[in-house]
Amino acid sequence: AMAADRALAMVTCTAPANIAVIKYWGKRDNDLILPINSSLSVTLHQDQLKTTTTAAASRDFTEDRLWLNGEEADIGHPRLQACLREVRRLARKRRGSSAEDVAPLSLSYKIHIATENNFPTAAGLASSAAGYACLVSTLARLYGVEGELSEVARRGSGSACRSMFGGFVQWQQGERPDGRDSLAHQVAPETHWPELRVLVLVVSGEKKQVGSTAGMQTSVDTSPLLKHRAEVVVPERLEQMTRHIRERDFEGFGRLTMQDSNQFHATCLDTFPPIFYLNDVSRRIIALVHRFNAHHGHTKVAYTFDAGPNAVIFTLDDTVAEFMEVVRRSFPPATNGDQFLRGLPIGSASLPEELLTAVVTETLPGAIQYVLHTKPGPGPQLMDDPDQHLLGADGLPRRCA
Ligand code: DP6
Repeated sequence: AMAADRALAMVTCTAPANIAVIKYWGKRDNDLILPINSSLSVTLHQDQLKTTTTAAASRDFTEDRLWLNGEEADIGHPRLQACLREVRRLARKRRGSSAEDVAPLSLSYKIHIATENNFPTAAGLASSAAGYACLVSTLARLYGVEGELSEVARRGSGSACRSMFGGFVQWQQGERPDGRDSLAHQVAPETHWPELRVLVLVVSGEKKQVGSTAGMQTSVDTSPLLKHRAEVVVPERLEQMTRHIRERDFEGFGRLTMQDSNQFHATCLDTFPPIFYLNDVSRRIIALVHRFNAHHGHTKVAYTFDAGPNAVIFTLDDTVAEFMEVVRRSFPPATNGDQFLRGLPIGSASLPEELLTAVVTETLPGAIQYVLHTKPGPGPQLMDDPDQHLLGADGLPRRCA
């Protein structure tokens, strides 16, 4: 085959972040990354948040190399190596079973990988999920592997398996000790709920204290609430959440999303020693959302928080402008020239006096750094324009940091 003689093969993909509405917290197998409960998430649109990865293989490369946002990084990371090994194993299996050589690229060639986020890592927006989903999608294309890949992405980071699909995605915990049934699948595509909107409220200052991996291990070891949650609460909630999504029932979806976020943070407090991811600004956002909903007499806005203080808000398109104005009044932007609203544009809304009095009861200038407006989006994408490769023909990063 002609392709077998290629000196250099190169593939670029992009992949999305996701935000869980039924949270994953706790592993039953640390090496295979098998969870103690199933989880469900919304994939976020790549126009606002994405990772781009280019992988190249060449007989001329002398070693495997990795660049993260333009800086060379250690390719020996065990989770990255696990993904690489699994994709190569699938490629070998595929070649063994098909008569003709489908992707004759040599598996023994060294590879170069470059990866970039279009959002600041400081935003604490599950960059590992987008990152590993992107790595696995890109490697799979490079080696001609198709089909079930969420199992491989899971080996990078648990939440990454959910970024392998667009829209609304469930990660089925599975039962097998080898993890072959611990997979993600799409519950509904991103087109299913066109009115749904997402606001990421990036809280100023403060880096993440305890990482997810270490935090959830301590929770598994010490929290009786987490055990109850995994065994009793989550199975019921997954069914309810799936129904709310199918029926596009925002009231039900929003309420359950908030309750599940709150229970996740309760398991963190129940962990010993306790873990605190929410800070004072997070709690003010929670109170604001509840005042807003109480004023309207029903759930129009919902919050969820992962392992950090930033809030992710769900609402519908007809409520975005009003809620954004409430956020702006409550957390007046610091005048440092930074754009306060980023992402999808939002129209202006004038707030009725009685809403202002009831909802905007306190102001915390500068407490929110910026707000990113986005919506549900599709899964990983192959870039077919060679201009989008992060590596040049020499296999080195094109735009150095
Ligand atoms: C709070 O997927 O980052 O965001 O599997 O150890 O890499 P590892 O953890 P990770 O945990 C995510 C936890 C969470 C909830 C969620 O996304 O479901």
